Amino acid sequence: MATKTFRIAVIPGDGIGQEVVPEGLRVLDALATQSGGGLAFEIESFPWGSGYYLETGRMMDEDGLERLAEFDAIYFGAVGWPTVPDHVSLWGLRLAICQGFDQYACVRPVRLLPGIASPLRDATEATIDWVVVRENSEGEYAGIGGRNLAGRGQGTEIATQTALFTEAGCERIVRYAFELARTRKRRKVTSVTKSNAQQYAMTLWDDVFARVAGDYPDVETESWLVDAMAARFVLRPETLEVVVASNLFGDILSDLGSAVAGSMGIAASANLDPGRRKPSMFEPVHGSAPDIAGQGIANPIAAIWTVALMLDHLGLAEEAASVMRAIGATTASGVLTPDLEGTATTREVGDAVLGHV
Ligand code: NAI
Ligand code: MG
Repeated sequence: MATKTFRIAVIPGDGIGQEVVPEGLRVLDALATQSGGGLAFEIESFPWGSGYYLETGRMMDEDGLERLAEFDAIYFGAVGWPTVPDHVSLWGLRLAICQGFDQYACVRPVRLLPGIASPLRDATEATIDWVVVRENSEGEYAGIGGRNLAGRGQGTEIATQTALFTEAGCERIVRYAFELARTRKRRKVTSVTKSNAQQYAMTLWDDVFARVAGDYPDVETESWLVDAMAARFVLRPETLEVVVASNLFGDILSDLGSAVAGSMGIAASANLDPGRRKPSMFEPVHGSAPDIAGQGIANPIAAIWTVALMLDHLGLAEEAASVMRAIGATTASGVLTPDLEGTATTREVGDAVLGHV
């Protein structure tokens, strides 16, 4: 049998990234072993992150993007540490990769897993099941702006932070959302903006959404304002299927989504280049969690679910489904970390998942 080999670049990064990524890698290892030689993952790990920055003055090597470009996918932990300003660490690594490789679609499933309690009183696995599609290449995180005039003395400094919305950028993310909707049982896309207050960029988005919708007559559509949508995540979650939003709104709504699904510790995400020009990057939604780092209690489910998203992207749908089943069997059996009111360690949850793969 010919071996299908995938090259994976691994960047555990900071804090609990170092603790949860190894659990995801153990799952990959198990899948390769079980495949009896059909499947292999060549892993190369990179030491980039805040520690690397303090030693070298760089979050990643100068030729980092060139080296990463050789891989089939990037598996990322988290970045950020109290000793390095967050905007330095985020822009130096995660955003450098997402923007450098034009991974414009950030896909974040929100789903209640068996055995996990949502903070919403009436939530069930049927009512908590949607996907946030976040524009990941421009919008509010385009990095355009500046600070000036501090030289005039305290109290005089000014700053601008300009959002960038291009018609092409809006169109490709909206199209991605429609294509994704076609893979779901109920075909529906909800577009989220704030075009009553942001009358230029967000009306451009709305116009593009309406135009692209014309190409998908089989998909139900709606447009909502982001403030109302925040409430709807909590009050009427069963009405959501695919929610497409700008970079900032998608970022905020996906944290709300993970909270509704029980914990930041389970939320997975994919930063995709759907055109596959460059590798895509897979990472848990959560950050480095300095408050619990080093204690061995971080929930590895987000990082393991992230592996399932990566497998799917690599065309290994069966393996991805098997990982999701193993995660569900684990949560259903009550092996949970403290963020889900359990007493299990990171390693124990990882062991339980492995036992079900
Ligand atoms: P965070 O996601 O690291 O933590 C928020 C809260 O959720 C904390 O109380 C944490 O203990 C908990 N939590 C997160 N993941 C968990 C897990 N797997 N298991 C159990 N509990 C978990 O967000 P925070 O505290 O705002 O940021 C910490 C650092 O991470 C900052 O430096 C920030 O810039 C960075 N960050 C990086 C991201 C990335 O790499 N993509 C995303 C978000 C934040
Ligand atoms: Mg975030």
